[in-house]
Amino acid sequence: MAAFLLGAVLLIVQPQIVPSRPAINSNAETSSQSVQRELLKKTSQKNDLKENIHSNGSCQQLPQTIIIGVRKGGTRALLEMLSLHPDIAAAESEVHFFDWEDHYRNGLQWYINQMPFSYPHQITVEKTPAYFTSPKVPERVYNMNQSMRLLLILRDPSERVLSDYTQVFYNHMQKHKPYPSIEQFLIKDGELNVDYKAINRSLYYIHMQNWLKYFPLDHIHIVDGDKLIKDPFPEIEKVERFLKLSPQINASNFYFNKTKGFYCLRDSGRERCLHESKGRAHPQVDTRLLEKLHEYFHEPNKKFFELVGRTFDWHSFVAS
Ligand SMILES: *[C@@H]1O[C@H](CO)[C@@H](O)[C@H](O)[C@H]1NC(C)=O
Ligand SMILES: *[C@@H]1O[C@H](CO)[C@@H](O)[C@H](O)[C@H]1NC(C)=O
Ligand SMILES: *[C@@H]1O[C@H](CO)[C@@H](O)[C@H](O)[C@H]1NC(C)=O
Ligand SMILES: *[C@@H]1O[C@H](CO)[C@@H](O)[C@H](O)[C@H]1NC(C)=O
Ligand SMILES: *[C@@H]1O[C@H](CO)[C@@H](O)[C@H](O)[C@H]1NC(C)=O
Repeated sequence: MAAFLLGAVLLIVQPQIVPSRPAINSNAETSSQSVQRELLKKTSQKNDLKENIHSNGSCQQLPQTIIIGVRKGGTRALLEMLSLHPDIAAAESEVHFFDWEDHYRNGLQWYINQMPFSYPHQITVEKTPAYFTSPKVPERVYNMNQSMRLLLILRDPSERVLSDYTQVFYNHMQKHKPYPSIEQFLIKDGELNVDYKAINRSLYYIHMQNWLKYFPLDHIHIVDGDKLIKDPFPEIEKVERFLKLSPQINASNFYFNKTKGFYCLRDSGRERCLHESKGRAHPQVDTRLLEKLHEYFHEPNKKFFELVGRTFDWHSFVAS
């Protein structure tokens, strides 16, 4: 293998202007901020980044688009479907570069090294669902590339909470560890426990505000995760347009699997369905508790719709 490696690495010669930061957070600098600044300096030194070039003409490069979330929104399905496009090169696993300090400290070269080999006509994409809800991530992505185009897939916030719980529940089951019932997370002193992390992650407008401090709305394409599952093709067509990809994915790339109850993919004769853990049944939740959840998200959802100038068909319940 090594014999095939050209061993040559190209220095990207680009006069790098260090991006100016938007005027926010002008408070006096704390020591943690100065540590952050040092970190930023290191991670935004782009002049000496190397693309790892392979003899077959492919190379590793920084992503031109990132699927930033949301956790349990359908990010894996979106990535798999987008990968049907020949001009997409997708990172296999979640990179967690911008949200995990251990990774971020390694700098952009490390990030490039995690990327798939791609050809010049291809767009590199990575997905890490935790980015959307990590407050420090938007600025870090901005410092890497302020023209970045971002993909965000969202689904009904209440459903997302149940799905979030279900994932952690199954992870514990697999390790034969006990895990409390969903009610124990959702209820505190007879009321909805809004400190539950899964509920916070569904407060989309809070997280979206952080991103909109750095990126204009038209650089963040929102995929309707509920629609993507029911009828993937129209949603994927919109993503193709947003990324300025030629229209290559078509309806015959998708077929409905009745046993599974959702769509599978057909890629030049090869058929594949998503991993078993996707589309798992949610726990039975008491109707009144579910209503409480729907009621809780009513206002936050409205705020989110105003923020993005678009509405979604999400559960909402207003007690009369
Ligand atoms: C080119 O090389 C890369 C890196 O080894 C590899 O991942 C990719 O599959 C190769 N492409 C082709 C068409 O052989
Ligand atoms: C920044 O992102 C844009 C949009 O995806 C892309 O066209 C451009 O090449 C990226 N710049 C760098 C330095 O990666
Ligand atoms: C939710 O999380 C965000 C970001 O971590 C935090 O700023 C906010 O205070 C939290 N909101 C609630 C209601 O817990
Ligand atoms: C859909 O795309 C496949 C290749 O992915 C192609 O073979 C097929 O002819 C296309 N079908 C239509 C209806 O365009
Ligand atoms: C449909 O899903 C079932 C259940 O997961 C699976 O066994 C089967 O192989 C799938 N069929 C096709 C054609 O994808």
